[in-house]
Amino acid sequence: MELLNSYSKKWSLSLFTTLAVVTVLFAPKMTIANETPPTDKDMLFQWLSDRSYKDWASESAPHQSAGPHPVSVIAYLNRVLNESLAANSDAHPKGSAAVKELLDANGDLNGWAVSLKTDDDSNGGQGWFWYEILGNTADSNVVASDNGVPLCFGCHTPGKDFVLIPHPLK
Ligand code: HEC
Repeated sequence: MELLNSYSKKWSLSLFTTLAVVTVLFAPKMTIANETPPTDKDMLFQWLSDRSYKDWASESAPHQSAGPHPVSVIAYLNRVLNESLAANSDAHPKGSAAVKELLDANGDLNGWAVSLKTDDDSNGGQGWFWYEILGNTADSNVVASDNGVPLCFGCHTPGKDFVLIPHPLK
């Protein structure tokens, strides 16, 4: 009985190991679920904290923001937006999304800005969801979390369908 027990323990341990290995191997295939940031403020903060956008196309190094986004930034584009910008489209498909990491003077991550096209029609900025948080903790200052935030789309209007970052990404 003692022997049997230790055998089954060994088996369940190796089964557990196999499952863990399989999970790690297949995890990259599941990133498709990370293509679309959630628009619920709390869920989005969690999504950002989990770095769910890390596999998106991105700039290779931080650059000093040309806008008000402090201090330096790294832009990430989801596949839909990246392909649409590459095709030089005048309007991006619904589901297009960008995340900008905001870095402090030491280069440490200190907030995020997000834009997500939620409608087929940009409708002067109303068809985009805008989010920005100044800090990396749940109680940090959220300066935007809504569709059609004038502060955001006002400055983004000259962009290519409200997207400002030069493409191809540097
Ligand atoms: C004063 C102008 C200005 C305002 C206001 C502004 N932005 Fe931006 N934003 C920029 C510029 C310029 C870029 C291009 C990248 C860079 O150099 O920062 C940019 C880039 C971005 C990007 C990366 C995708 C893209 O469009 O290039 C996101 C996401 C973003 N901003 C979100 C926001 C949000 C959310 C707000 C409102 C809270 C906002 N921005 C307000 C100027 C602005």
